[in-house]
Amino acid sequence: MDRKEFIKTCGIACLGGSALSVFLQSCASANYFAQTSLNENKIILPKIEFIKTQDDKTSQRKYVLVKTEKLNFPICIYKTGEEYTALLLECTHKGCELHPSGDFLICPCHGSEFTNKGIVQNPPAEENLKTFLITTDHENIYIQL
Ligand code: FES
Repeated sequence: MDRKEFIKTCGIACLGGSALSVFLQSCASANYFAQTSLNENKIILPKIEFIKTQDDKTSQRKYVLVKTEKLNFPICIYKTGEEYTALLLECTHKGCELHPSGDFLICPCHGSEFTNKGIVQNPPAEENLKTFLITTDHENIYIQL
């Protein structure tokens, strides 16, 4: 590789890195932290938190995030039809915080990937994610911690 080719390759790599960084930041800002309340060891999440209103149009969120002082990591709650799945966003490889991306959760540290049910799809993680028991009624979702 001559000098000119080396500089060209480095320039392309830098542009790619910058574009990826902007893309990841825009994904992160798209995550929605829901308004919840806590009753003993249950997080109460109103179902209405899955409804998104923008420019007089409503749509359904695939997932919302929940923070609680009782855990060191957020919980991601996926909605699939009328079924809900609550997953702790702690990677089972070495404990980095996972990033939801559509129907998958991706680890920024070493690239493990999990499904929206918490099942490992790509190593190095070998264990599935911690899940939480969920109950619902017509108005709320209850996440048992
Ligand atoms: S900590 Fe997540 S893949 Fe290593």
